[in-house]
Amino acid sequence: MLRLGVNIDHVATIRNARGTPWPDPVRAAKLAEDAGADGITAHLREDRRHISDTDIDKLMAALRLPLNLEMAATAEMQTIALRHRPHAVCIVPEKREERTTEGGLDVAGNEAALARYIAPLRDAGSRVSLFIGHEPAQIRAAARIGAAVVELHTGAYCDFDTEGRPAERDAELAALRDGAALAASLGLEVHAGHGLTFDTVGPIAAIPEFMELNIGHFLIAESVFIGLDKAIQEMRRRMDAART
Ligand code: PXP
Repeated sequence: MLRLGVNIDHVATIRNARGTPWPDPVRAAKLAEDAGADGITAHLREDRRHISDTDIDKLMAALRLPLNLEMAATAEMQTIALRHRPHAVCIVPEKREERTTEGGLDVAGNEAALARYIAPLRDAGSRVSLFIGHEPAQIRAAARIGAAVVELHTGAYCDFDTEGRPAERDAELAALRDGAALAASLGLEVHAGHGLTFDTVGPIAAIPEFMELNIGHFLIAESVFIGLDKAIQEMRRRMDAART
């Protein structure tokens, strides 16, 4: 079965735009649980531009579903993750000036340091996931350092689709398919995410090695028009349809 992880970061973005307590990302997470999400994802960024430390405290206390905590590989974030011991920790690259996570981690170029970084998280019981591109060198490095999971970055595939560049989109999709097969053959659990929408989710969901998709911005955007529960249910329906 293909799991849907609902990323609630951008509920916090809207809240932080006005400094009010609403909309509450914990309320969104509970609603996502009831709407059929299989997990909740939240990215605690170094600049705290959306999710806050308090949000993570509250999510850990309130959730029935597993929390996937996305974070940069910094000492501060490692301390926070070790305090909470969430179900999963997804290590992402982070640049302060970026609008969103632009590329994958360079695991191959930082193999020894990342291996040292993830070891205590793994020992504390969190499943460690690395957010990477589909390049074989990155996938092989992730397997070598003992990550349980790789999440493949679908942002370029989605951008090419939005920009009306079908040849590049299809090449990116083929590379993601090959990457997913390679990762699974190395014993990694394979996830995917970034930029996915109702239009782009099908071909990704159809790749059999993917076990989880993490989707946020589009679901929160769509919830303005149809509600978060219906947006999640429709995404789930499209994922299931692509699998059968
Ligand atoms: N997966 C990872 C590792 C991410 O960093 C993000 C964005 O925080 C997502 C999935 C979700 O991307 P989007 O919000 O574009 O659906």
